[in-house]
Amino acid sequence: MGSMNVSEAVASRRSIRAFLDKPVELSVLRDILDKARYAPSGCNFQPWEATVLAGEPLRELREKIRGVAPQDPKEYDFSAPEASPPHLARLHQVGASMYTAMGITRDDKAARDTFTNANIDSFGAPAVLLCYFPRFMKEPQWSDVGMWLQTIMLLAREAGLDTCPQEFLSFYSRIIKEFIGVSDETHIFFCGIAFGYRDPDAVVNQFERERVALDDNITFTGF
Ligand SMILES: Cc1cc2nc3c(=O)[nH]c(=O)nc-3n(C[C@H](O)[C@H](O)[C@H](O)COP(=O)(O)O)c2cc1C
Repeated sequence: MGSMNVSEAVASRRSIRAFLDKPVELSVLRDILDKARYAPSGCNFQPWEATVLAGEPLRELREKIRGVAPQDPKEYDFSAPEASPPHLARLHQVGASMYTAMGITRDDKAARDTFTNANIDSFGAPAVLLCYFPRFMKEPQWSDVGMWLQTIMLLAREAGLDTCPQEFLSFYSRIIKEFIGVSDETHIFFCGIAFGYRDPDAVVNQFERERVALDDNITFTGF
């Protein structure tokens, strides 16, 4: 495989929701995570922590979660801009685009729920990174963790791998933390990152995700 520049890694990354039945080598994941240590963080705190599962332990965790109701209270609320029509419209666009591509109609709630629940198996990904950090971390450190995760997802592209970030897994934070031996008292679970090789034929990996035009969100002054 030829090497990939950053623009190519950014352009070819998309959230993958159908993976090939092909394992991911530990050495490849170690290399990605080793490089990602150089992601920036305020005060160089490097607040991120993670456990990466594959094989039998991953199968076991999925079995533990399957059929269990999402935890209440939630670990955190990821539906923050719910009150904002423009943000909500973006969510609806990506959902509509995805389900239309899959041939799932708007009123077929059962089919949508079934697909949402495919998050439990990380859409068939052979490895999953489970990301958490100390509860005392505040908004700036959440942002640091996000930068680390995106660094990982771009390095994954360079290594020929694909990813899907999964805050869905936070519905099962307590079960996950207990399973991997992380204290619920001291640590907040943020999300999973599914790792694997994309199924290039799956329509769910091909639908269009719209983006806001550059000048709608960014202002340039003084040039
Ligand atoms: C922190 C984070 C959590 C996410 N959680 C989920 C998830 O639980 N399930 C899912 O299918 N996609 C999840 N996504 C993917 C987003 O839906 C996706 O990034 C967005 O629609 C843009 O599409 P793209 O990643 O293909 O460019 C998540 C993305 C981020 C950044």
